[in-house]
Amino acid sequence: MDRIRISGGRRLKGEIAISGAKNAALPLMAAALLTDETLTLVNAPNLSDVAFMGDLLRGLGVGATYSRANGDGGRWDLRAADLKSTTADYDVVRKMRASFLVLGPLLARAGHAKVSLPGGCAIGARPVDLHLKAFEAMGASIELSDGYAIASANRGLKGARIEFPFVSVGATENTLMAASLASGQTVIENAAREPEIGDLGRCLIAMGARIAGLGTSYITVDGVDRLHGARHAVLPDRIETGTFAIAAAIAGGEIELTGTHCDLIESVIPLLARADTTVKPTNRGMTVYRNGSRPIAADVETAPFPGFPTDLQAQFMALMTTADGTSRIRETIFENRFMHVPELLRMGADIHVQGDTATVNGVERLKGAPVMATDLRASVSLVLAGLAAEGETIVSRVYHLDRGFERLEEKLSAVGADIERLKA
Ligand code: UD1
Repeated sequence: MDRIRISGGRRLKGEIAISGAKNAALPLMAAALLTDETLTLVNAPNLSDVAFMGDLLRGLGVGATYSRANGDGGRWDLRAADLKSTTADYDVVRKMRASFLVLGPLLARAGHAKVSLPGGCAIGARPVDLHLKAFEAMGASIELSDGYAIASANRGLKGARIEFPFVSVGATENTLMAASLASGQTVIENAAREPEIGDLGRCLIAMGARIAGLGTSYITVDGVDRLHGARHAVLPDRIETGTFAIAAAIAGGEIELTGTHCDLIESVIPLLARADTTVKPTNRGMTVYRNGSRPIAADVETAPFPGFPTDLQAQFMALMTTADGTSRIRETIFENRFMHVPELLRMGADIHVQGDTATVNGVERLKGAPVMATDLRASVSLVLAGLAAEGETIVSRVYHLDRGFERLEEKLSAVGADIERLKA
């Protein structure tokens, strides 16, 4: 298994191109199931999760080709002319929870689908009850059997009023896709407002869907009989943007992040400012700057968009480990999302976890150590910590990183970090 070696202490200087968002690309790919025409996605990131969604779609009978074209980033051409299966097996869904996003489109297009329940996952229970309740409200019958959700709506889905008891990104996406082909109007109340929902909605509109209220918590969808093909550019990855912004904060220096914009990390910028890091918009994206002084501690609480993203919690904690002062970090979205803490402790951090809150007492300097990646966001926080640490850090199990960060070590080494991949 590949590992990543980092020697800490180098300031960063230069520019990094931000890739298309993984969390937008995955639902966008699932949306290809809604039409028999070709959906082309450009600016798609080259990541193992995205390749995996391609394989899942191929298994359902979708023609799916990935290519890299100049200026387009990665390009997917997806054509679900004939579906040969409406089943997603446990082996597939257990590897990537976002696989569950094929349920809504399959149900809407084919009238039935059988998708494995995702089951437990390293960062909490993550059930799918909200997805299933929304489909039931739209007239589907759902049976849970042998670990599968078997959904059918033989006479088609009907528009409904759906009020989510709390915000779920995936349930909003699944419902939005299904409602696009339902008969009548669907109202989604307490919808997620994440930019990836807006991106999916814009693509669906380009495919002929009638959707209003994107970006708000009240979305209406007037179902249409059929959707057609479209070409859509995947929005920039706000988690990658925030991660590299925190990299500049943790290592010091100045980097320009291109192909992205400040609105995507609006909740992060004031926290970086409190940690003595300046973020300024540029024509091409933003610059992030911190001089050599120690970052200052700031408290943070994760929340659905526009709040501070849970997917940046681990990275922000890495920054706080060397801050001047004590920071309290509260995780409100997922239980058990502090798996990076024991690894950061191995690097000399001073962190105490109680319930959903981690108290981080900043230390002068971290020390490099061998550490182990446990999940996607946790693993990148260890790389960031390695940038700030004295000596060498080796991060093992980096396949977690490859799920969500495109060429991470190349991008960081191009701005002066001493980092390399050690091939297995
Ligand atoms: C998406 C993102 C993930 C991010 C998360 C929160 C993708 C592919 N993944 O995950 O990176 O961390 O949003 O921003 O976009 N829940 C239920 N029942 C449900 C659905 C969710 O109880 O039916 C709970 C989950 O266990 C979790 C919370 O709701 O505690 C939020 O989950 P959700 O917003 O659905 O996250 P995902 O869509 O899985």
